[in-house]
Amino acid sequence: MKIKEKLQLFTKQKRGLLATNFYNLETLHGVLKAAQELNEPLILQLTQSSIEYMGLDTAVKLGRAGLRQFGVEGWLHLDHGGSVDLAQRCLDAGFDSVMIDGSELPFEENIKITREVVKRAEQYGAHVEAELGYVAKLGQSHARQGFTQPAEAKQFVEATGVDALAVAIGTAHGFYKKRPELDIELLANIAKVTPATLVLHGGSGVPEDQLQKAISNGICKVNLATEIKNIFMQTLQMELAGNAEIDLRKVFPKATGQITELVKGKLKIMKNSSDV
Ligand code: 13P
Ligand code: ZN
Ligand code: NA
Repeated sequence: MKIKEKLQLFTKQKRGLLATNFYNLETLHGVLKAAQELNEPLILQLTQSSIEYMGLDTAVKLGRAGLRQFGVEGWLHLDHGGSVDLAQRCLDAGFDSVMIDGSELPFEENIKITREVVKRAEQYGAHVEAELGYVAKLGQSHARQGFTQPAEAKQFVEATGVDALAVAIGTAHGFYKKRPELDIELLANIAKVTPATLVLHGGSGVPEDQLQKAISNGICKVNLATEIKNIFMQTLQMELAGNAEIDLRKVFPKATGQITELVKGKLKIMKNSSDV
């Protein structure tokens, strides 16, 4: 099934579709093992810096080969694409979906850049995500500002023809200093006025009950990155402390396994949200 159809189906069923970032072979296998064990689909995301780290062609082949190896239904997605040029390169490299993040541009310019990517993606049958509103990036202020407004979301989706929209309803990238409070009423109002798939960025650190409420009120795609990096590095650091092992293949599996446990927990939340 194409990613667009899957997201529409899951939205209708009030189920979440988890989108996890990967950075190397170990993090990729960690997330895929979780999806395999629970027999759940998964979106594999790459940011520009991960693409630069691995190389575009290698990253795509690694992702595709991983999906086949683990027998997981999944898709490759560009996370926070910062330019039309990068989106174009990812489309050429065979991504199923690209995000163009014009959220820090003025409204009209965000429309313009998103429309351009939508036009290009159409030629590849690819899916496009955009962002409207302010979801704090790492290191940016978490102060409540720039939440997505329903009327603007409606206008934006109509003007761009974008498939999916990342909304600002109270999440932020990275961990939270205090428990986040999502504006579920605002989310429900956005969902009422636009047909686009709604995306929650900043999934790390969002409590389970809030994730479930968000999903039962219109969110479908849920992005998770920081918790994956964090548990991998924490486990690795413990593993390496006072350890003289030089066979690196013996060092990683524990950290990879911890990612699997983390992602299994999140996948269960995605699935059970239809019950709340
Ligand atoms: P977290 O790092 O908070 O999980 O956010 C991930 C994200 O939104 C990737 O686009
Ligand atoms: Zn994000
Ligand atoms: Na977060």
